[in-house]
Amino acid sequence: MSNSGEAELLHTFKGIPFTTRSSLELLKSLDTFDAREDDVLLVSYPKSGTHWLAGVITKLYNTQVTITSPIEFGDISQLEELNKLSSKRIIPTHLDYNMLPPNFKNKKCKMIYISRNPKDTAVSMFHYYRDNPNLPTVDTWTAFLDLFLKGNVVCGSWFDHFLSWEEHEDEKNILFLFYEDMKKDLPKVVKEITLFLSLNVSDNDIQDICKKSSFSEMKNNTEKENSDPSHTVCALTSNRKLIFRKGAVGDWKNYFTPKQNIRFQEIFNEKMKLSKM
Ligand code: A3P
Repeated sequence: MSNSGEAELLHTFKGIPFTTRSSLELLKSLDTFDAREDDVLLVSYPKSGTHWLAGVITKLYNTQVTITSPIEFGDISQLEELNKLSSKRIIPTHLDYNMLPPNFKNKKCKMIYISRNPKDTAVSMFHYYRDNPNLPTVDTWTAFLDLFLKGNVVCGSWFDHFLSWEEHEDEKNILFLFYEDMKKDLPKVVKEITLFLSLNVSDNDIQDICKKSSFSEMKNNTEKENSDPSHTVCALTSNRKLIFRKGAVGDWKNYFTPKQNIRFQEIFNEKMKLSKM
């Protein structure tokens, strides 16, 4: 990773690396954010399927909802922008549980956490680092994997992020989803989401929504549209074209050497000792 790039593009807040697109002033003010009881939070570690989930969820409502830009994205004016919105807000975020504005917790807002096999997440993030000018340059997969395992990447350690949320998995206002389950049986997961959000959506409509949310449909739609900075759900880019890469389960097998896989597994086993995963 080039030092000058790192210095310009990332900064650290409470021990976690953020891009400079999340201003320090905004990060410091998050604790004062005024949540609304009907806010829905869409939470993820980067590259876990956030855009896919956002695409599905917005299609489930027949009332006006706004999928906002991530709460930690931009400068301090972001909080005011969010306050001004009159429609129901679906708010994406990559924040870990401890950094989430307390008001969301106190008001028991509904939160959906999407997770993905961290090996596939690492590979997806490696490509994102390479293609995204807002992130520091990485020279090789080996160098990136080392940073990922040490938590020296944007949003910090995958393990810490996951564990901070998993601790609250049993709370009624939090729904845990997995990318791999969405790949396996999307209608089943969508049904689960509708029940969690108390939305009445027919099975036919669910089938239709699933068709429209396939990787190829979403990728094609993005290629047709002009990217609109206000419609990204990732605090790390406004370019939706960077999001739809391969959309597969198990791509890690094309990247990990047997030695890297053993190292990953050892670290996973140690860090996730207390996890139910
Ligand atoms: P890959 O890089 O492995 O292809 P996020 O939205 O959190 O940034 O996650 C991006 C990852 O989700 C990318 O993974 C992207 O291809 C994948 N993705 C996006 N839309 C998808 C869809 N409709 N179906 C399956 N995967 C999807």
